[in-house]
Amino acid sequence: MTIGFIGGSGIYDALPLQDTRTVEVETPYGNPSAPPTVGEFGDTGREVVFVPRHGPDHQRSPTAIPYCANIFALKELGVTHVLASNAVGSLREELPPQTLVIPDQIFDRTKHRDSTFFDEDIVVHQPFAEPYCTELNEILTEAAEEATDAKVVRGGTYVCIEGPQYSTRAESEFYREQGWDIIGMTTIPEAKLAREAEMAYATVTGVTDYDVWKEDSEVTLEEVLKNAEKNETAIKETVEAAIEAIPEDHDCSCHSALDGTINTPDDAIPE
Ligand code: ADE
Repeated sequence: MTIGFIGGSGIYDALPLQDTRTVEVETPYGNPSAPPTVGEFGDTGREVVFVPRHGPDHQRSPTAIPYCANIFALKELGVTHVLASNAVGSLREELPPQTLVIPDQIFDRTKHRDSTFFDEDIVVHQPFAEPYCTELNEILTEAAEEATDAKVVRGGTYVCIEGPQYSTRAESEFYREQGWDIIGMTTIPEAKLAREAEMAYATVTGVTDYDVWKEDSEVTLEEVLKNAEKNETAIKETVEAAIEAIPEDHDCSCHSALDGTINTPDDAIPE
């Protein structure tokens, strides 16, 4: 088992890993956001591969993140389980900044992103009713509850917008009316690509703001980054506890998620 960690806003350095090395991985989709850092987590003997989603200095906007290269690189490095983090806005009064939400649903409002490895000479239609690995979600939720002092919320719908602008008040109110819970810009296409690459994938999101439905004022980048920094400790504690908690022999349907979905054999993703 090799565990990947894709760090979102506020998470730019690897967890406490030993014997770390930085690996240059070439992919058919260009370079990942940063060369992955590979190391051993504590004395667990577990190999962890870390990639900061926005790059080491937060230089990539949500649309410009090389999602395909990131997921391809993790797969190439043998990753079987991907833990991610995302900064999100809240669409609910009861989810104030600094809450951790482990979402179980996604509504995709992105517009300009490649969201499949299979776009040439091959037709792949994968089930995606459960966009996150339900088993890894459970592990991540228990890890957050046990390892942090944060308010932790199990489940919720993440509406993923294209950005880079935040929402209008009308959009924000619409999302609330749908019953959605949190809003961000980065879980799509990552979750889709991880499923195509047959890796288990789940995310812990850290709330940074109330979006614009609640406040008369705008969401500001300053507020988002300030709270993302405050969420850093709890997110790292969660991910570290989850890394320890994944059973050594853990296997799930994500690992064979291409079975029965491909019309034409192909080698678009690495073995
Ligand atoms: N990321 C953090 N806060 C956000 C918000 N309010 N809307 C979209 N993405 C976000």
